[in-house]
Amino acid sequence: MVTFPKDFVWGAATSGPQTEGNFHKQHQNVFDYWFATEPEAFDAGVGPDTASNFYNDYDADLAKMAQAGIKGLRTSIQWTRLIDDFETASLNPDGVAFYNHVIDSMLAHHIKPYLNLHHFDLPVELYDKYGGWESKHVVDLFVKFAEQCFKLFGDRVDDWFTFNEPKVVVDGQYLYGWHYPCLKDGPKAVQVAYNMNLASAKAIASFHKICPGSTKKIGIILNLTPAYAATDDPADVAAAEFAELWSNNLFLDPAVLGHFPAKLVKTLDQDGVLWDATDEELAIIAANPVDYLGVNYYHPFRVERPDISPKSLQPWLPDIYFKEYAMPGRVMNVDRGWEIYPQAMADIADNIRENYHNIPWFISENGMGVAGEERFMDADGVVQDDYRIDFMKEHLTALAKGIDAGSNCKGYFVWTAIDCWSWNHAYHNRYGLIRDDIHTQEKTLKKSAGWFKALSETGTFEN
Ligand code: NOJ
Repeated sequence: MVTFPKDFVWGAATSGPQTEGNFHKQHQNVFDYWFATEPEAFDAGVGPDTASNFYNDYDADLAKMAQAGIKGLRTSIQWTRLIDDFETASLNPDGVAFYNHVIDSMLAHHIKPYLNLHHFDLPVELYDKYGGWESKHVVDLFVKFAEQCFKLFGDRVDDWFTFNEPKVVVDGQYLYGWHYPCLKDGPKAVQVAYNMNLASAKAIASFHKICPGSTKKIGIILNLTPAYAATDDPADVAAAEFAELWSNNLFLDPAVLGHFPAKLVKTLDQDGVLWDATDEELAIIAANPVDYLGVNYYHPFRVERPDISPKSLQPWLPDIYFKEYAMPGRVMNVDRGWEIYPQAMADIADNIRENYHNIPWFISENGMGVAGEERFMDADGVVQDDYRIDFMKEHLTALAKGIDAGSNCKGYFVWTAIDCWSWNHAYHNRYGLIRDDIHTQEKTLKKSAGWFKALSETGTFEN
């Protein structure tokens, strides 16, 4: 038997741009724009226009989530839906009404809202005008948007996050070109990382002014990917240390400890790519740590010494310090090759306990993506996703070890409740406890939904 603490939150995570559909949305985010201009960049040419139709179906969807035992929902407010004019943060009345309805419906279904303010969805206008997260003006516009959210919804919502996976924005949008605007620019990526840290701290400062009180909390969601060295060879160990600094500590340290890791700052400075920062900004970061952390965990990094010469890289890329390789073994999302390694859950728990003041934290995403899930559908149309149940069991077993050792983990949010649109991968890999037929928008509980319900009711499972 694996047993969790009594007040442990059993939730699910999702996001506005991946579920709502673009109904009545006034502005485009970077993904909306990218799909409109280059649909072939998306799996099967499927874009975000309908997604899982949450804009129209939210009440029925939330009722289904409650049936799956989901007691907390982490989703996001879309900047492009709530705001009319980005410079003044004036409100779009339809957007305000929509999020009010969603929050009220969550509460009516006894699902606690956890609201995140940015899930890869920068308004494209702010990229066109200012270079997006390259600009400190955009940092201040984000804070204005955040303040509107706190004022509008802070009466009913206690739990907030500033960003989801800001490192994916740095890597995907500015460094490796996976996501629009598809830049490959090291110095810009470094500045973006700094600016997003600053934006998070500034939004946190505003939050505590607008939503005072000990029940109101705010954090940041980070995709922590523990970096394991290939061998004990010092060159591999050094590569893993840099991967850890660049991939994890770059956001984790400022968010929790209030400062950037000195070793990373020194390296970036020596390489001539250090961000533009002022003492006043660094003081804001120092004074506004998170109340708690969200951790998204899917896969670790396996790292070895780099095999490329620094001189061959213009502009700067972190690849001069480390190289990732694929570990032979189990993977999910075969197209993405994510290694399945549950032990990292316990390693993350230990790391937070030992090095980050044992701050409260959540697993804010963890889940299994599978392509072609209709193969596992029974005669009644129920997906028999035992593989997803096994995946959760293995990861939760490792997490429970970390909690038993004293780590302050407060909840587990499975990714995701209902199959949703996953950026370029669109609907290729399904992650939901609930299946979405994207042609009819019919939603059906999978076998894992029943398992999750029993887990959320009892806080235990048999492994
Ligand atoms: C993490 C991201 O936050 C989410 O948007 C994405 O769909 C999942 N990973 C699965 O890839």
